[in-house]
Amino acid sequence: MSVAVRQLQNTVRELLADGKGLLAADESTGTITKRFEAVGVESTEDNRRAFRELMFTAPDVERWLGGVILYDETIRQSTSDGTPMPGQLVERGIVPGIKVDRGAKALALRGGEKVTEGLDGLRERFEEYRDLGARFAKWRAVIELGDGIPTEAALVANSHAMARYAALAQEAGLVPIVEPEAIMDGTQTIDRSAEVSDAMLRELFTQVRGQGVVPDGLLVKTNMVVSGYRAAQQAGPEEVAERTVEVLRRTVPAAVPGIVFLSGGQTDDQATDNLDAIARRGPHPWTVSFSYARALQGAAMQAWAGKPDNTSEAQDIFRDRVRRTAAANRGELGT
Ligand code: 13P
Repeated sequence: MSVAVRQLQNTVRELLADGKGLLAADESTGTITKRFEAVGVESTEDNRRAFRELMFTAPDVERWLGGVILYDETIRQSTSDGTPMPGQLVERGIVPGIKVDRGAKALALRGGEKVTEGLDGLRERFEEYRDLGARFAKWRAVIELGDGIPTEAALVANSHAMARYAALAQEAGLVPIVEPEAIMDGTQTIDRSAEVSDAMLRELFTQVRGQGVVPDGLLVKTNMVVSGYRAAQQAGPEEVAERTVEVLRRTVPAAVPGIVFLSGGQTDDQATDNLDAIARRGPHPWTVSFSYARALQGAAMQAWAGKPDNTSEAQDIFRDRVRRTAAANRGELGT
């Protein structure tokens, strides 16, 4: 079966045109419930819908966002004026995407490590999501760092599942975002972060090749190479940029059209300062951009706090974060 590579490449071009990036608004109900609880908002279906509508109708953001990743619940919801969420995005020239993995579950016989599930029935789910308007997809693998982990077993299992997902996405005509995330909230040095990120991406592309996935028709979403957030010594943006680009150049083929970063629990300022430093080291073999959830949404969610009266102020805060992140993505943060 041949892959419609041109179609995939056109989607990638739309997503990342002119320095645009992605908004990850695809938190599972469990994850968004945690985020809502932190700002005192009850996680009802309507509150989840209202916050997503707030972001998708915020002024100007189509100038800086090429795509939004949706969650299964959201892609089926409508804005308060009755427009389906994907249609609301398309109207603004933003490409809708869908998270299709079903979460990271305990990997058998490997206390503590995880493997992402969600392959069963995925071909049929892709058909449905395509009918609902999705043109790209996302699958996240969680790689934990610690004593003796990640193991080879965890890297292989996660990469293999991700490559199978990517093959199904390409078959369905959706651009797969493969998202291996090395978790950065430990005490590890930046050297250890680099070592794990390198091994993780290396295994991913072994599996991607093994499954016949076309590298020209996918996007990589991954962590920046940073010091563990609880490490005594914290690398600054220049070192983060240098180490991140070094790892990516060694592991991600130049045929891959784009790499987007997750914010991964960095503060809003770290997420923009580090992105700016990475951009200033360009040009890179791939287009580099952002696909943040927390670093774009956090401040807006706090300002909104579940109160309709705060919507417009929260939209302004959201727009400013998106604009600032896009400026960082052009290496123009300080200008
Ligand atoms: P963060 O930017 O909050 O890390 O989220 C990105 C994401 O999509 C995680 O899967």
